Amino acid sequence: MKKPVDLNAAYQPEHFAFRDGAKVAEIISRYPKGKQRSATMPLLDLAQRQVGEDGAAAKPPYGGWIPRAAMDEIARLLDIPAVKVYEVATFYSMYNLAPVGKYLVQMCTTTPCMLCGSANVVKACEDHLGVHTGETTADGMFTLMEVECLGACVNAPMVQINDDFFEDLTPESMKKLLDDLKNGAEVKVGPQNGRVSSMALGGATTLSEKADKLGIKKAG
Ligand code: FES
Repeated sequence: MKKPVDLNAAYQPEHFAFRDGAKVAEIISRYPKGKQRSATMPLLDLAQRQVGEDGAAAKPPYGGWIPRAAMDEIARLLDIPAVKVYEVATFYSMYNLAPVGKYLVQMCTTTPCMLCGSANVVKACEDHLGVHTGETTADGMFTLMEVECLGACVNAPMVQINDDFFEDLTPESMKKLLDDLKNGAEVKVGPQNGRVSSMALGGATTLSEKADKLGIKKAG
């Protein structure tokens, strides 16, 4: 899904400053002299996380994204043209360049997830939250986004919410997950159907002794 980018939008703040100067210095110091531009990606990530921390405490809340002022500040710190930072930030899907909800729900709809029912999961999200894919709920809690394969196909269908994967979803477990997040309840990361990691659905098929020790159900 194409990410919204508008460097001159009204929502862009005038200024951005990193709060943790020591962390910025540590990131830049990871790279050899003359190669400091390699710090662009981790600094973009740091900026997005800082905005997300501010947003989590705001009313209404918002999630992590990277304002143009942050990209300009990174360019200044690394002594490179701002366009070099814009190029990186606009290329990678993990950087949000416009405001998002506190919880960014990235719904995978690539073939394995599609075959396992991702269309129903997407519909459950849209119906339950009352927004379409690409939109943010009025309370600032959720943004829905459709994405390509996130590499957890064995546990399809799945979504990524902020830094976490939620897998083996059904429309019902998806709606419960959204409710729990909204209500601040504890949520279980990973498979939502009781499966252990990416083990066969019927239970362990090998390493029986280990499975016994860990109390994991065995197949057959
Ligand atoms: S197709 Fe959805 S995680 Fe790979």
